[in-house]
Amino acid sequence: MNYTISDLPDYFKQYKKSIKNPKKFWDKIADENFIWYQRWTKVVDFDMEEANIKWFKNAKLNITKNCLDRHLAERAEKTAIIWEPNNPDENARHISYRELYEETNKMANVLAELGVSKGDRVCIYLPMIPELAISMLACAKMGAVHSVIFAGFSATAVESRVNDCGAKIIITSDGSFRGNKSVDLKGIIDEAVEKCPTVKNVLVVKRTGSEVVMKPERDLWLSDLTEKASANFITKIMDAEDPLFILYTSGSTGKPKGMLHTCAGYMVYTAYTFKNVFNYKENDIYWCTADIGWITGHSYILYGPLLNGATTVIFEGIPTYPEPDRFWEVIEKHKVTQFYTAPTAIRSLAKESHEWVEKHDLSSLRVIGSVGEPINDEAWHWYNDNVGHKKCPIVDTWWQTETGGIMISPIPFVTPTKPTYATLPLPGIQPVLMDENRIEIMGNQVDGNLCIRFPWPGIARTIWGDHQRYKETYFTTFPGKYFTGDGALRDEVGYYRITGRVDDIIIVSGHNLGTAPIEDSINLHPAVAESAIVGYPHDIKGNALYGFVILKETGEERNKENLRKEINQLITETIGPIAKLDKIQFVSGLPKTRSGKIMRRILRKIAEGDFSNFGDTSTLLNPEIVDEIKDERL
Ligand code: PRX
Repeated sequence: MNYTISDLPDYFKQYKKSIKNPKKFWDKIADENFIWYQRWTKVVDFDMEEANIKWFKNAKLNITKNCLDRHLAERAEKTAIIWEPNNPDENARHISYRELYEETNKMANVLAELGVSKGDRVCIYLPMIPELAISMLACAKMGAVHSVIFAGFSATAVESRVNDCGAKIIITSDGSFRGNKSVDLKGIIDEAVEKCPTVKNVLVVKRTGSEVVMKPERDLWLSDLTEKASANFITKIMDAEDPLFILYTSGSTGKPKGMLHTCAGYMVYTAYTFKNVFNYKENDIYWCTADIGWITGHSYILYGPLLNGATTVIFEGIPTYPEPDRFWEVIEKHKVTQFYTAPTAIRSLAKESHEWVEKHDLSSLRVIGSVGEPINDEAWHWYNDNVGHKKCPIVDTWWQTETGGIMISPIPFVTPTKPTYATLPLPGIQPVLMDENRIEIMGNQVDGNLCIRFPWPGIARTIWGDHQRYKETYFTTFPGKYFTGDGALRDEVGYYRITGRVDDIIIVSGHNLGTAPIEDSINLHPAVAESAIVGYPHDIKGNALYGFVILKETGEERNKENLRKEINQLITETIGPIAKLDKIQFVSGLPKTRSGKIMRRILRKIAEGDFSNFGDTSTLLNPEIVDEIKDERL
C-alpha cells in the first residue's frame, strides 16, 4: 500500500494537498490501493446541512476481496490472526490468510442457507474468539449488515439493539471466559430473543462447553453447519454506499444510536489510517486490546489490519488474568510491534507492582497507542517510560464510533509527541473550534467545541432508521459542520488536546454512557421518584458515575444500602455492569431551573467535591437544596 507519510515536511505537504483538493487526494489513494469491480463516477457528493454524504459514488467492490482474497497470491500462508485465549495454558491459534478466507466462505454459506441475503441484518454477540471475526467477514462477503453487540451488555440492551435493526439471525456462543469467570452468553440471548420477533435463528459457537438449552428449530450449533459447508463462496458485489455494518453507541438521550457505516469510504479510510498511524510494516505483529464489540475493534483489530495484510492479535482475556502482567507477557510471547490500548487499562496496570512490567522483554515494540478517553499526564509518562521505554512514540488517537477511523493523532516518527495531546489532524481532516455563538475560533491557544468542516470517507452516513436524529445530533448545532460533542484546545503550535465531552455523555473506563438512559433505568425502581447522574474524576476509570436519587414519599423507612444495591442491579439488568454507579446519594430534591431543567453543572461540582463557586444559583426554583446536597455529599 503506497500511502505513507515519510517525515514532517511530507506530512505538511500531504495535509495541504488533502485540504486544497480533497477529491484528488482521496481519489488517488482509493485508486492505487484497492481492488474495485467498478470505479466511481464521483469521489464525493455531500450536503452537510442535510447530512447527506456519499463517497466513491457508483463504485462497486467488496471489502472482503481487499481483506482476504487479494492476499492469497502473496500471503496465503501468512498469519492473519493470532488468537490468544483467556487461559495462557491453552494454545494460541495462528490463522493464516488462506484459512481465514476459507472459514469466511464456509460461514457465508451457512448464513446463505439460513436465508440471509444482501441487506439483511445479523447480530453478533460473541466473546473475543476467531468466530467473531469470521462472522463479520462472512456478513461483509455476502452483503449482510453485521451489528456486533458487545458481549457485556445485558439481555434488555441486546433486545433493544436487535429490535432496532430487525436482525434475522443472532450469532452467539455457549458462554465466554473472562479471567477465572465464565459468562452464560446463550442464556442472555435466550432471554433477549423472547422479545425479538424478527430473529429466525440463533447460531451457537461452542466455546466453554457449558450446558445450554437449544430451542428446536431456532437454535443451531454452528460447527454442525460449517462442517458440511463448502469453502467456496461467490462474493457479493456491493455498491460503495451499501451498508457494511451498524454499531450502536450511546446517545445523551433516548435509545442507543445505530451508526451506519458503508462499504467503500470505510474501507479506504480504515486502511489508510491504520497504515500511517501505526507505522505498519509487512512483518509486524499488531495488537489492539479493545473488544471487537466497539468501533476500535472493528476498525483496528479487524478491517484496518486485514486490509493491509497484517497479522492482528485477538485477545480473549483480561489484563489481570492470571496475573497483572498478562499484557506484557503476550507482547513478549508474540513479539508484538504495535500495541494499542486504553488509558483506563494503562492507569490500572500502572498501579500494580513495577516488577510485573519489568520482568518482560518488551523490546519488540515500535509504536504504542492510546484511545477512547483523554490520557492524563501521569498515565502518559508511565506508558512512555515503562512500556515504550522512551523509544516508542505514543500515538494518542482521537476519534469516535461516528468517525469510523482515527482523526487526530501523531504519525509515529513524523509528528513530535506531546503528553496528553492528540496533536495534529490526519490528512483530509479539517478540525475547527467553535464558540457558543457558533462562530469559529481562529488562531492558536484557544479552546472550544470541536467540529469538522469537510466530510472524510470514514464518516458514518446515518443513524439506522432515523436520519433526522443523525442530522439533529451532528449537523444542526453548528450548521454546515459535523459536531463531535467534544471540547478541545489548540495550543501555540496548532496541536489539539481533547478536553472531554461537552454533552450529557460520560466516558467511564473508555465506554460512552448517556446520562438519560441510566436515569431511565434507575427510575424503574418502584421506590425512586427521580434521579440525576453526573460524572466525577476517578483515578483509574477516568470518570465514575455519581447518582443523586429522590425517593418516593411513602412514610416507610427504607434500608439505604439495600436500595443502592437494587438500583445498581437494575442498571446491570437494563444496560450492563459497565453503567453501575460508584456513589448513590439520596436527596430530597434536585436543583432545577424555573423551566424544570436539572442544573447538572451544580451537581457535577458537588460530585467533584468542588464547593468553591456554584455560579449563579438565583435562577433556581429551589436554591436551598444546593446546601443540603452539598452537606450530605458522599
Ligand atoms: O470523547 C471522545 C473520547 O471518546 C469519544 C468517542 O467514543 P466512542 O465512540 O466509544 O469511540 C471510542 C474509540 C474511538 C470521543 O468523543 N475519545 C476517544 N479517543 C480519545 C478521546 N478523548 C480524548 N483523547 C482521545 N484520544
